[in-house]
Amino acid sequence: MTTPQHQTLDIPVVDIDLPVAAALPTHRDPEVSQPARAPLADALSRLLAGPAVASFHALPWTDGHVLDGSGVGARYAELFGQAFLRLDRCYGGAALDSFFQPRGPLDQAQRLAAAAFGADYTFFLTGGTTLANRIALHALAPRQARVLIDPNAPAALHAAAVQPGWQVDEVPLLAAAGDGRTRPPDLAELCALLRAAHADHRPYDVVVLAASSDDGLLYRMDRILPAVAAASPLSALVVDEAWTAVHAFHPGLRRHATLPAAQRLAARCRDTGQRVPAVLVTQAADKTLCAARQTAYLHVVGGSDRVRQVQQAVFEHHTPSPSWPLLVSLDLARAHAQECGRRELDRVLALADQVRAALAGDPLLAEFRPPGAGEEPGDPAEPHCLADPLRIAIAVPERVGDKVLWETLFRDHGVYLGRGTGRSLRLSFHLGVTAEHVRRLLAALRAVARRWLTRPEPAGVPTAGAGVEDFFIPYPPGIPTAVPG
Ligand SMILES: Cc1ncc(COP(=O)(O)O)c(C=O)c1O
Repeated sequence: MTTPQHQTLDIPVVDIDLPVAAALPTHRDPEVSQPARAPLADALSRLLAGPAVASFHALPWTDGHVLDGSGVGARYAELFGQAFLRLDRCYGGAALDSFFQPRGPLDQAQRLAAAAFGADYTFFLTGGTTLANRIALHALAPRQARVLIDPNAPAALHAAAVQPGWQVDEVPLLAAAGDGRTRPPDLAELCALLRAAHADHRPYDVVVLAASSDDGLLYRMDRILPAVAAASPLSALVVDEAWTAVHAFHPGLRRHATLPAAQRLAARCRDTGQRVPAVLVTQAADKTLCAARQTAYLHVVGGSDRVRQVQQAVFEHHTPSPSWPLLVSLDLARAHAQECGRRELDRVLALADQVRAALAGDPLLAEFRPPGAGEEPGDPAEPHCLADPLRIAIAVPERVGDKVLWETLFRDHGVYLGRGTGRSLRLSFHLGVTAEHVRRLLAALRAVARRWLTRPEPAGVPTAGAGVEDFFIPYPPGIPTAVPG
């Protein structure tokens, strides 16, 4: 693989010494009993406690006094509160820390995150996993890149790979099950493709995998990563784990994740004198951890040079004016997950089981049973994939239709579900889900069943999918049905 060449915009990179300090808590003992440290949050708190600052830079709303006495000021106070206005600072460098060249609390917070998740270094980003993916891909790909990309990756990641001089091929997938669920990769075919390219002296520079789909298909990266690395030792990997950041904090869930597998691979390569492949992992923090919208972690395994490459790509793609409240939430989300992630995950795993049991056992809920229930991916035909125990699909009964089901649940019962394939809606058991939420969900599904599904020919029954195009905003950014090239 050739090294990426950056023609312009080189920034003087900070020396990021690796490995991280041994005193930091590690991903092997994530259950910290005392409150976990959060150095970036501490730094912001110190600023808030300090004297008022006369800022001649930007952000007139900081401290909120410009809004005092105006009607709009009252709206701001009502919606954001004084604390948010005081927290939103435009500081960089010496005042707080530099975003592109952190040496203070941001660097400490990123190192703590790296230690907690099991990376060599972690970058905090405020443009979502969408931007994290773009940065990861562009950090690793040389100018004439050969990229092998997973069709299950989100559309924006495919768009990021459309570059002059890049050759982009697709990871082969297993045949579709016919129910719209995400298709697992065909690992044998994938490895054959990688081996052929390697033997031909044209290895793929970057292999992109989408290891956690929004409908709950989990790639077993403990199996896939060693297989890919053996077939193509010169390839770097970008792994999208948008839906599974929280998995790092539970022993049962962490087992299949990318970062532990990447660390094992790196250790084996070092022991045998082989080149350590770069593995970059992107994770949404807001989807499964207690962080603000648009926050993401970009984890790096592969040593200091790779960290510097990513640092350069962050500089080239990220806004130079990131939101400190968002960055602080990345620090606090990691600390919170270390403090109580394990306990909270056990709690929501039990709630998910409760919903599964209700779907399986209550005849009134029979039509909501997930498509392919009982033949979830993973055993034994697809041993390199699993069903995420934190996700459940709700089948959409044809007599109701997805628009009406979704709308009724939201408007009449205050229950919000993720959009599915059209034949299903999705439940994500994130840390915010409570027993009361589950009670309300099951009551709502039973009410829908009584209204529409228990009578043979009810009047005014909506047709399946009626008006779907008008109603659903595509979310998440979706699996493209066609990709450029
Ligand atoms: C697999 C996957 N990757 C990336 C994204 C984009 O994440 P973000 O909303 O953080 O930009 C999504 C969105 O849901 C997704 O499902």
